This record gives sequence, structure tokens and C-alpha cells, in this order.
Amino acid sequence: MKTLLALTLVLLLASAGCAETGPQYDVAVAVDGNGSVSGAGVYKDGSLVGLSAEPEPGYEFAGWYEDEQLFSEQSVVEFTAGSDRELVARFDPRQFVIDLEIAPYVGTVSGAGDYAYGDFVKLKAQPAAGYDFLQWESAGEVLGAESEFEFAAAEDKKIVARFSYQGDPVYDGNNLFVPVLKTTSLGQFVPGDLVDIPSRMKQNPSANRQVRMEVLEHLEQMWEAAQVDGVTLLVNSAYRSYQTQVNLFTNYARQHGEEAANRFSARPGQSEHQLGTAVDFGGTDRDFSAGFADTEPGQWLLANAHRFGFALSYPEGSEDVSGYIYEPWHYRYIGVEAATAWEESGEVLAVFLQTEALPVLAD
Ligand code: DAL
Ligand code: ZN
Repeated sequence: MKTLLALTLVLLLASAGCAETGPQYDVAVAVDGNGSVSGAGVYKDGSLVGLSAEPEPGYEFAGWYEDEQLFSEQSVVEFTAGSDRELVARFDPRQFVIDLEIAPYVGTVSGAGDYAYGDFVKLKAQPAAGYDFLQWESAGEVLGAESEFEFAAAEDKKIVARFSYQGDPVYDGNNLFVPVLKTTSLGQFVPGDLVDIPSRMKQNPSANRQVRMEVLEHLEQMWEAAQVDGVTLLVNSAYRSYQTQVNLFTNYARQHGEEAANRFSARPGQSEHQLGTAVDFGGTDRDFSAGFADTEPGQWLLANAHRFGFALSYPEGSEDVSGYIYEPWHYRYIGVEAATAWEESGEVLAVFLQTEALPVLAD
């Protein structure tokens, strides 16, 4: 009985206290993710509650939530205490973009993409034949020299995979029959006997177009023969240096993506144009398209080029073997005898050169 009396007294005293100070409310805050919060506590009815949330590095504040509903996106919030509250401050890992570039375009890479803070980024680089992987670079700094490289994502990064030329050409570009494939390299080969193509034979008379001396002799003979037949053969492109091919391929890869670019453009060190023996013909309204095959020069070349030592490198439907889409404008000089044998063989040039022509490996 005494105990009951004492309890009643305590309760009476407590309610008397409430009448003086008003009700009080619990404002509880919890954290979801990586960050800290302040402002939790007991607040008097009608008083101002101030909460603030601070993400840890690599995280961003995603909002205050209550009963799984968004309460506020502001990291600092104020409200009037009027009931018990349970708020959760959510922090999400920040997202970063890892961007990869290849320089020069003589290999493939993987690992670019979107990553959350702390995720492991695994980069991999694979050089083309004749090249080595050199290093990973970012903002002018070397990140690492292994072709497989890992790091934790902590910021947006633009990374360059740098490849280097191995030194000696894998194949000797002086040999007229040298295979020029996606698996071989001419290195930085430059022909020693380049000569200028006369203006009358060029689509753009003032452009600088060159081929090797022996090629020009046969090109001129072919040009004259075509003229006799009433057809004018005009040169759109001829010798292209390793560096020109670097620029061309890099631009195409930027425009179309590397895989698409490599269906119609060779990587540096892998273009027949670097030999000084390949010529792109044009001067029609269908230059550099499959439709060139239907033009007068296209038809004439198909029927006659071999007689002057030129072979069509990338015939229709040969992509699996030659590596490139149909290029009815691109001819490579291999000499009259070889071109005649090639024509009779009916083989794709790349196959003909590997199976029928002389072995051409450099020492
Ligand atoms: N268009 C050919 C494949 C080259 O770039 O050499
Ligand atoms: Zn070409």
C-alpha cells in the first residue's frame, strides 16, 4: 500500500513537471552508408531541431529518410519538434568515370567504364603484333608499366595506354610480297625510293602523292592504257607514313569506335599504304564506296590492273581473310608476274602472298 502511494506521488510530480516544461520528444538519427550526423537528442515541444549530415570522402549525401520516405535532400535541415522522430541519413558511394585512350592505336584495352568509390578498376592492355605495351599514363604521370593494372576508383580518370614500337620491323617492307596483316607489322618502315606521282594522275593535282619508283613506272603505263580506252584513272591516296596512319586511324577510331574503324582502316605499321606500293583510285562520285566497282575506272581496273602488276587487296566478301571490308578502289603493286599469277589463282591477295609468294620474313 505504501509503495503504491509513493508511485502515485512520483507520477503526480512528473506530470506537474510536464505542465511546467511541456512535452519532450526524442529525435533519433541513424546512418546508412559512410558519413556522420549531428543533432540527435531530446527536444522540447515547439523547439527548433537542427540536423546535419557530412559524407566521408568518396561518398555523397543522398538525403534524410523517414519510414523509407525521402524527408529532405538537404544535408542541413531544421524543423519544429512536435513528435518523436526517427530519421536516417543516407550516404551513397560517389560514381566515377574511367576513360581509356590508346596511343598510338596499336592495341586493345579493357576496363573503361563507370565505377563506384572504392570499386576495383582492372585495366588490361594487349598490343598488336610488332608492338609492346609500354605504360599507363594519366595527366602526364606514369601510373604503371604492367599490362594488367588495378586501382581503387576515387575520382574521374582519363588514362592513356601507351604502346611502343618493338624496334626492328617484323617484316621487311622492301619486299614486294610482304604480308601486311592485322597480325604483322612493318614497324616504322619508310621506302627508300619514293617518287612523286605526276599531277595529271591525281584526283587533287596539288596534293602530295608518292609511290615507289618501280610502282610509278607501272602506274604510268596503266594510266596511259586506260586513257587509250577512254578511262581516266585518278589517284586519291598512295604512300602513307606510319605517322599519317597513326593520325588517320586515331581519328576514325574516335569517330566510329576502334572495332568499326579497324574494318576499313589499318593500324599504323599494318597498312599496305606504308609500303609505297598501294594506291587508292578515285575521281568519281562514288570514291571510297562499294559503288566505285560500278564506275568506269572501277570496272577497268578490275579487268586490267593485274596486267600492270596491281592486285585488288580487299575484294568483296573477303573480310574474314583480308581483315577489311570491300575496297574496290585499293590496289597493291606486286609486279606483273605475281599479279598475273594472283589473278589466275582466284585467291584473296593475303592468302596468295602467304602460300604462293616467296618467304619474306626479315632476319
Ligand atoms: N584502308 C586500308 C585497309 C588501309 O588503311 O590501309
Ligand atoms: Zn587504300
